Amino acid sequence: MAENTAVEEVESDLEDAPEDEIVVLAQKWKKKRGSLIMALHELQGRLGYVPRESAMKLGQEMGVPLATIYEVLTFYNYFKLKSPGKYIISVCTGTACHLKGSPKLLEGIEGQLGIKAGESTADGEYHLQGVRCLGCCGLAPLASVNGKVYGKQDVTDASGLLDHVAEDQPTVSAAQSADTE
Ligand code: FES
Repeated sequence: MAENTAVEEVESDLEDAPEDEIVVLAQKWKKKRGSLIMALHELQGRLGYVPRESAMKLGQEMGVPLATIYEVLTFYNYFKLKSPGKYIISVCTGTACHLKGSPKLLEGIEGQLGIKAGESTADGEYHLQGVRCLGCCGLAPLASVNGKVYGKQDVTDASGLLDHVAEDQPTVSAAQSADTE
């Protein structure tokens, strides 16, 4: 229990988090072969789908027209253009988080919500997924909800994270602007 943190405590320790996820993503993939698909793949991995505003920002940062981005998004069935849930919960299963017990956290959330990773609740409120390293390992173990990072989670208390989500009601756009501060 001692490690379970209030959101305020977590936010004070966010120096490890990327300043702006999409800018970092664009820089990472900009000059690599097949970069647009990989960048979109990673973006969806983080947010659970590709919101239009995120696609626009990624295009600006990578110097790719929005029309080209949508050609890719609509060509591949893999990409989701609509949110699979109001709250996309992404539990990091990267090495640092895994070592600190993130599989247990994921399992706990599955139990609380009655769904498996990759599924959404019947009421459309939650979509749960396991994701690779979110780039802020200093906050392990962590989850993000609509892009907002909740670090240093108590892996034995999945309800703590869900309580924070109910309280914060993070949105994709709010999370992105918070990350740029
Ligand atoms: S392993 Fe989880 S943020 Fe890096």
